[in-house]
Parts: sequence; C-alpha cells; structure tokens
Amino acid sequence: MRSLALGFFCLLYCNTAQPERRRPKHITVKGRNDTTIQNITVENPCKAMPLDFVFVIDSSRSIRPNDYEKAKTFIIHLLQFLDIGHNATRVGLLQYGSVVQPEFSLNTYTTKAEVEEAVRNMQHLATGTMTGLAIQYTMEVALTEEQGARQMSLQIPRIAMIVTDGRPQDTVEEIAAQARQAGIQIFAIGVGRVEMNTLKAIGSEPHSEHVHLVANFSQIETLISVFKSKLCGGEESLILSLVSLFVYHV
Ligand SMILES: *[C@@H]1O[C@H](CO)[C@@H](O)[C@H](O)[C@H]1NC(C)=O
Ligand SMILES: *[C@@H]1O[C@H](CO)[C@@H](O)[C@H](O)[C@H]1NC(C)=O
Ligand SMILES: *[C@@H]1O[C@H](CO)[C@@H](O)[C@H](O)[C@H]1NC(C)=O
Ligand SMILES: *[C@@H]1O[C@H](CO)[C@@H](O)[C@H](O)[C@H]1NC(C)=O
Repeated sequence: MRSLALGFFCLLYCNTAQPERRRPKHITVKGRNDTTIQNITVENPCKAMPLDFVFVIDSSRSIRPNDYEKAKTFIIHLLQFLDIGHNATRVGLLQYGSVVQPEFSLNTYTTKAEVEEAVRNMQHLATGTMTGLAIQYTMEVALTEEQGARQMSLQIPRIAMIVTDGRPQDTVEEIAAQARQAGIQIFAIGVGRVEMNTLKAIGSEPHSEHVHLVANFSQIETLISVFKSKLCGGEESLILSLVSLFVYHV
C-alpha cells in the first residue's frame, strides 16, 4: 500500500513540481523489496542518480549534414549533465537508418571525454528510418546486462532517449510498449514533421515529461534547458518520475 501511495503522490506531484521548489537533500527511493529503502544523498544535483542511458539516434537520409551535426551537439550538451563513470551513469549510443548501427555500449567507455569523442566521430548513415527495429535492439541488446546495463535489482533506471526526424518505416507501437513494460523509460524527441501520435506511441508516461516535438534541429537546443532541469534537479520531476518507475515495478 505504501508503494501505491507513493506512486499516487508521484502522479500528482511529478507534473506539478514548481520550478522554484527546492529539492530536499535526501530523497528516499522505495524499491521493489519493501525492506529495501535506499537514501540518495544529493551533493551535486547533476550527479544525483546513476542511470543506464542509451541514446537512439535517427540517422536517416532526410537529415541534412548540418542537422546531423546539431544532433551530435545536442547529445554532447546533454552529456554535461550526466555524471559518467563505471559506477555512476553509463552511456551507450546507437544510430539507425535501414539498419541499427551500434556506436558504443553502456560498458564501452568510463569517462565523459571518451563518450564525447565517440559522439563526435560518428558518421551519418543516410539510409531509411527503421525506428521500431532500433527500439527492439535497444530493449533486446543495448539495455541488457551483457552490454553493461546493471542488474534490475539494483534499480538503476534504464533510459532510452530516441531522437527522430520522421515517419518510421516500420511499426513502433507494439515494440515500444514492450520496451516500456520491460522497465525502460523512453524519451521521444521529434524534430520537424514527426507526428505527435507516433512520439506518444513511443515515449513513456507522463507524455508531458517524455515526449517533445521541436520544429527543426536548430530548435533542439531549446530542449537542453528542459533536460537540464530534469537531469540536474532544477525540478524534482525526473527524480520523482524515476521513483514512480520503481514503484510501478514493485
Ligand atoms: C528483501 O531484502 C532483504 C534485505 O536485502 C532480504 O533479507 C529479504 O529476503 C528480501 N525480501 C524479499 C521478499 O525479496
Ligand atoms: C535516510 O536519510 C535520513 C536523513 O538523513 C536519515 O534520517 C535516515 O536514517 C536514512 N535512512 C537510511 C535507511 O539510511
Ligand atoms: C565501483 O564499485 C565497486 C564496488 O563498490 C568497486 O569495487 C570499484 O572499485 C568501483 N569502480 C570504480 C571505477 O570506481
Ligand atoms: C526553426 O524553427 C523556428 C521555429 O519555428 C524558426 O523560427 C526558425 O527559422 C527555424 N530555423 C531553421 C533553420 O529553419
């Protein structure tokens, strides 16, 4: 019952967190085992919580070369808010066109500098848009223990951030639902003429937190401030939605 109460608290609270509200120093995360209560001490809010975080980047033909560079810049800016390390946040990245191309896994790099360099070095595929296939790969390969995701019992949030500029050539609804049910928190970011319904079929609830649509790749930078507040704790919402993620898996 306590978990239900906390989940309900989150439903009410996560969407209404006031920007000016200060984050408490200690956040108690209720785990799937009732006797397990873990304290997370927030020294630097940006480094509040380890994550297993996989970027899933649309590398289709319709993305122009300078837009592809902007997508890379967006990723590099987001990395600034993550505390990357073997025992902190692990980052993986795959891009997809007609096929899925893994760039690096959660267990490939242990420093931010290495991750940044790998992002800078990735090459535009310029093929199709097999978004469903990419989500399937994320669930079945990229966010598994074999590839460096930590055991489910450690309750490290598994996050996939999908950036796409177009209409998928395959179906996404069912596979995205499966991935969410498997405990993956999915952020869906659409750039340009992406249908909102497609993004909503991909992203986790609440959609106000997880689903974002911007007009073009220049506008994608406007999302940095949104994610900065989520990842750095300007608001409590991400932390609390992660808490709710745990709670729903009790
Ligand atoms: C919960 O965790 C405690 C401490 O780790 C353990 O002793 C207990 O057996 C666990 N209970 C269940 C139901 O898994
Ligand atoms: C969690 O932190 C609070 C506040 O510092 C403390 O009173 C409490 O004992 C801690 N609980 C555990 C299980 O460590
Ligand atoms: C990670 O944590 C484990 C267990 O606490 C420790 O043995 C190991 O040295 C740590 N690794 C790094 C790179 O900090
Ligand atoms: C991107 O979209 C914004 C908002 O619609 C618009 O003002 C801007 O001119 C666009 N930039 C480019 C390069 O198309």
